[in-house]
Amino acid sequence: MGSHENYERRTRIETPRLWLRPMREEDAELIVAWRNEPSTAAMFFIAPPTLDEHLRWFHSGREWRVDYVIVRKEEGRPIGVVNFRDIDEVRGVAEGGKLIGDLNSRGRGMAKEAFAAWLMYGFGTLGLRRVMIRTRTDNTANIRINEKLGFHVEERYRHRAADGVVREFVMMTLPRREVDRRPYFRSVDRQGYFDKERSDRGRA
Ligand SMILES: CC(C)(COP(=O)(O)OP(=O)(O)OC[C@H]1O[C@@H](n2cnc3c(N)ncnc32)[C@H](O)[C@@H]1OP(=O)(O)O)[C@@H](O)C(=O)NCCC(=O)NCCS
Repeated sequence: MGSHENYERRTRIETPRLWLRPMREEDAELIVAWRNEPSTAAMFFIAPPTLDEHLRWFHSGREWRVDYVIVRKEEGRPIGVVNFRDIDEVRGVAEGGKLIGDLNSRGRGMAKEAFAAWLMYGFGTLGLRRVMIRTRTDNTANIRINEKLGFHVEERYRHRAADGVVREFVMMTLPRREVDRRPYFRSVDRQGYFDKERSDRGRA
């Protein structure tokens, strides 16, 4: 069962300042605007979608992936998205992605907070064992966040970016056990990830 609905197992994932909820049709215009902002678009492998393309994609099966929207609690306002793509249930691996589209919400640690909660959802609820990320080498903000969450660079390679230029990318990975080692994850956890881990270990 690879449909996105199968991976939307929580209606809301909370963090201290944010909540994450499944992407909806009415998010379309905002997401398309975020993806089309030039400095953001340049960070992706594929060109940004038009509204029609986005809606076609939204209503397609969206297999082996899941997309949530990041909402700022204090304002109830969407500021970005997180996702897992190419979910491989046999190997327990998926590729993770994040975007803070609201430029005023960048640089406030919200990408790190949202993605930490998203990783715990991936490991704890979806049963992933490893998450990988592909990003441009010059995407310093993204690489710093990933490193702070425990990701390590596994591979460097060259690939054509969405702007048509061949650039250097890195592939970074995070095994599930890293979450236990980093106190930051505990400070963000509002879903009882660590309580569940303890009781799972107790049963083992
Ligand atoms: C990458 C992106 C998500 C970062 O969002 P952000 O809100 O600026 O990130 P945060 O504020 O959560 O940054 C978290 C950490 O990274 C560090 N950081 C952020 N930008 C940095 C920079 N330019 N240089 C060095 N460190 C940086 C911060 O110090 C912070 O660490 P701390 O909380 O421990 O102090 C955002 O720039 C974005 O959406 N870019 C376009 C889409 C994209 O590139 N997505 C990922 C690849 S597909």
